[in-house]
Amino acid sequence: MGMTDVHAHLLYGVDDGVSTLDEASKAVSYLESLGVRRMFLTPHIMTDCPNNDATFLKQRFDEFLMQISSKIEFRLAAEYMLDENFAKHLKEEVLSFDSRHMLVETSYLSAPMELDIMIYDIMATGFQPILAHPERYLYMADTKLKQLLARGVKLQLNLLSLAGFYGRGVSMRARTLLLEGKYDFVGTDFHSTKHYERILPNIELKKQEIDAVKLLLENNQNL
Ligand SMILES: [Fe+2]
Repeated sequence: MGMTDVHAHLLYGVDDGVSTLDEASKAVSYLESLGVRRMFLTPHIMTDCPNNDATFLKQRFDEFLMQISSKIEFRLAAEYMLDENFAKHLKEEVLSFDSRHMLVETSYLSAPMELDIMIYDIMATGFQPILAHPERYLYMADTKLKQLLARGVKLQLNLLSLAGFYGRGVSMRARTLLLEGKYDFVGTDFHSTKHYERILPNIELKKQEIDAVKLLLENNQNL
């Protein structure tokens, strides 16, 4: 109860998340019933979503706020794909959490060739990168993750990774990183109510894991 969610595709009709106002209204009621009280909407900014830039998403977010009535406090951020257009987006207005942290992701197949340069550029621009769901990047070696952490990259766990939604390998890696204290934040990465209702009850956590998730939830409040 009282959760701040730092990762959700609830801004409808702009990416692969919730697609209509009706779906968004139902999702908001569901998330409210789970106890979510504050949410950062993080639509994809990536080459595959060519319309999504700060100006367009801010306009869509204003419409969202006018159409959705809820006790949840909504904020707009974004999930930036580290792809060939990332450098261009970094030069524009950045949809960050708190003018300091920005959410970034990579492809699930491989890291971008210029990953290290991109991380450098983010920091040189004055932002601290939060890498979304690193447990899903099975291509990424633990040594590389450690190197990123040492450079000041923060990691965000997807809640459904713990339920095995993305496979057993991802679930095991998520639990290892969680117990090692490697994560700073936890998010739903909400895309659809149907998925969430089906998968969420499958999360079984040991006491140590519950305690670790609670710490991340507390940290979410700082964004
Ligand atoms: Fe996402």
